[in-house]
Amino acid sequence: MAIRWQEQVCLLTGASGGIGQAIAYKLAGLGVSLILTGRNADSLSALMASLPGQHTLVCADITTEAGRDKVVAVCHDRHISMLINSAGISETGDFTTTPAQRIDTLLLTNLYAPMALTQRLLPLLQRASSAYVVNVGSTFGSIGFACHAAYCASKFGLRGFTESLSRELASSNVGVFYLAPRATKTGINSAAVVSMNQALGNKVDPPERVAEALVSQLERNKARWFIGMPEKLFARLNGALPELVDRALAKKLPVIQRFLTSATKEKLL
Ligand SMILES: NC(=O)c1ccc[n+]([C@@H]2O[C@H](COP(=O)([O-])OP(=O)(O)OC[C@H]3O[C@@H](n4cnc5c(N)ncnc54)[C@H](OP(=O)(O)O)[C@@H]3O)[C@@H](O)[C@H]2O)c1
Repeated sequence: MAIRWQEQVCLLTGASGGIGQAIAYKLAGLGVSLILTGRNADSLSALMASLPGQHTLVCADITTEAGRDKVVAVCHDRHISMLINSAGISETGDFTTTPAQRIDTLLLTNLYAPMALTQRLLPLLQRASSAYVVNVGSTFGSIGFACHAAYCASKFGLRGFTESLSRELASSNVGVFYLAPRATKTGINSAAVVSMNQALGNKVDPPERVAEALVSQLERNKARWFIGMPEKLFARLNGALPELVDRALAKKLPVIQRFLTSATKEKLL
């Protein structure tokens, strides 16, 4: 059945971010009522003021129990039918020198928080006639890319969580979706990552492309959606014939290391 966008009430995490804002504009334009979350109150307020329609803002750190309590309380009052987990952080560099605390925060933000929010909001979503959970993953949730060990671990985990839950809820009113952007022009990417992408010739999408993809994915009811070629193909190839991708990426390793290992050293100084 076609989605009735104007009847949807959506909790959007990471709404203050590049991809989150693009999703907010796209969905608000379709008539969705949004609950916008993030930690940056100023950018959330500015976003809310610029969107068409009536929306709610909740400023919270979703890596804390108290932050999630705050978000869930607002969702209880609003009869949500859609959850989009877009909040995320990145970490690049040599794995051996990545501070353990950064790995903790990354796994909490990118993997544990979406799982915990989904678990707590499912009873509310199950009350809607049709409900949707979209987890924003990454191409790096299917391809282990050098100098991204913790980030890849979090997104591989998110993909596994999404697939399992999607199959568990297959006969229910809740659809569970995995959306995998490739490199996208937002603040999550450090200057070093931007330079590496240029040197490798990696394509970089505007965040609006991710928002468009999300709408197409839900309208076509596709459990998984990978954005862009050749990334889409490489993600599949890595699943079937990882040795081929090992070889292709080994050729790129000197370039990756040139940008990302020195960036890590600079950050740690
Ligand atoms: N951009 C890319 O190249 C790319 C590619 C593939 C996948 N992705 C994925 O797309 C998603 C969105 O990324 P983006 O590019 O939009 O990044 P971004 O511009 O840096 O935005 C990240 C968002 O996450 C929120 N966030 C981070 N930690 C949080 C916390 N502890 N509590 C609450 N909110 C938190 C930020 O909110 P505050 O700043 O307000 O705290 C911000 O709204 C992420 O999951 C990312 O992994 C991005």
